Amino acid sequence: MVIAIPKATTHPAGCPVNLDDIDLFAAGAQEHWHEAYEILHAERPIVRIPGEGTSPDTDGFIITKYDDIEEIIMDPHTFPQPSYGAGFRQEGEQRSALQDAMARNTLRPNMEMHKQHRLQLTDPWVGATGAPRHREMVTRTVDQLIDGWIDKGEIDFVTEFAALLPQIVMTNILGFPLEDMPILKTWGEAQVRRFVWGKGHRNLMTAEEEAENAKDLGAFMAYVQGQVTRKRNEPGDDMTTFLTQVDYMGRKLTDQEVIGVVFGMHIGGLETTQYALAAEAQILCNHPEFFQKLKGDRAQLRFFVEESLRVQAPTQGLSTRMAAKDVEIRGTKVPQGSILHLRYGAANMDPEQFECPAEFRLDRPAAGRHMTFSQGPRVCPGAGISRLEQNIAWDRLLDRLDSLSFAPAKNDFSHQPGIMLGLWHLHVSFEKAK
Ligand code: HEM
Repeated sequence: MVIAIPKATTHPAGCPVNLDDIDLFAAGAQEHWHEAYEILHAERPIVRIPGEGTSPDTDGFIITKYDDIEEIIMDPHTFPQPSYGAGFRQEGEQRSALQDAMARNTLRPNMEMHKQHRLQLTDPWVGATGAPRHREMVTRTVDQLIDGWIDKGEIDFVTEFAALLPQIVMTNILGFPLEDMPILKTWGEAQVRRFVWGKGHRNLMTAEEEAENAKDLGAFMAYVQGQVTRKRNEPGDDMTTFLTQVDYMGRKLTDQEVIGVVFGMHIGGLETTQYALAAEAQILCNHPEFFQKLKGDRAQLRFFVEESLRVQAPTQGLSTRMAAKDVEIRGTKVPQGSILHLRYGAANMDPEQFECPAEFRLDRPAAGRHMTFSQGPRVCPGAGISRLEQNIAWDRLLDRLDSLSFAPAKNDFSHQPGIMLGLWHLHVSFEKAK
């Protein structure tokens, strides 16, 4: 049975000790999501949010168990992504320029086209097959960033490394001028604003916030249009040029279609990897023994990255699906039109899947089974480049540093609000390698 929980409170959430304390969307709740997941798994693995489905007479549901989420994401026909044109937004809710751009994306109206979209358009650049072509560029970028602060002894790891690396990498891959990075950063923040500052599981912003954000996204769209025009006239060796030239299902892409793909790369490629890198630095500061172990044995590095992605998933509650028909999940009736909020961060902490899930284990079997990139037909198309960035970053950091620790008295370890898990800052001290 599922019992309704109250709507979000506004006061900072403390550490929950029982069900009544849990509201995953309350202010400050992100600091105690792991404790909340433990209680939800034991007592209420599916949580109903009344009136927050695709229409006011349908409900939202928070799904926390690994098996349930897996079943949902593997069955895109029963559980499609809510379509912005199909009533996902309730009356009065605004539609952002980003939603417009994505909705106009005519490239993958069905799952077969979705697969082709991935295979032909994104895999060659950011998927597991295409990402390795960027190895040299990523390594060079990592080294240049380290060169900039290696003699300082102390930095904010978030602003001086974790945020910059994915920004430079994606700007290079898309073939945009590096001098445009400051404004691209602003637009990148606009792209994820609803996931940070939006309210509840539907990431709702006020009409004023939507209008303000739409201005930024409109400016970004105009910028990308300009880049697409430039690439058509002066082709380069980059993903945007590739998209303007590729033969896709017997035809060329329109400007709008290229812009839609580029928008996805830019929204997906920045903050997520930033949060992952910052969480990894925090884990290594908490466990200096891992730092030394990895320094001496790089074969362990990829397991470190996967276990970090499991325990500190940047995408705690990123995805939603809707029920296209009446279904039952774990004995709970989920009527057609319900919105399902998939809690990947909770799936990663499911004790039925991961023994002692709160323990960070470098030797965890099948470490990559986590849900952080999702799985199945809609699995993150950028997982390849993100994994490459994280592995190269730590390989070079371990080469060039002899130690890494928290800078004394500077950290509060707070995370931004919303549905993602991202540290605002992480002040670290380090010794340059001898
Ligand atoms: C640690 C880094 C990252 C994490 C944890 C992550 C995670 C995710 C997740 C969970 C989804 C949703 C899948 C679903 O709904 O089932 C997603 C979608 C997506 N990601 Fe990532 N991602 C990361 C990095 C990237 C990068 C580097 C890119 C681009 C280069 C990217 C591009 C995208 C795009 C375009 C989508 C939407 C796919 C679609 O519409 O089907 N992501 N990602």
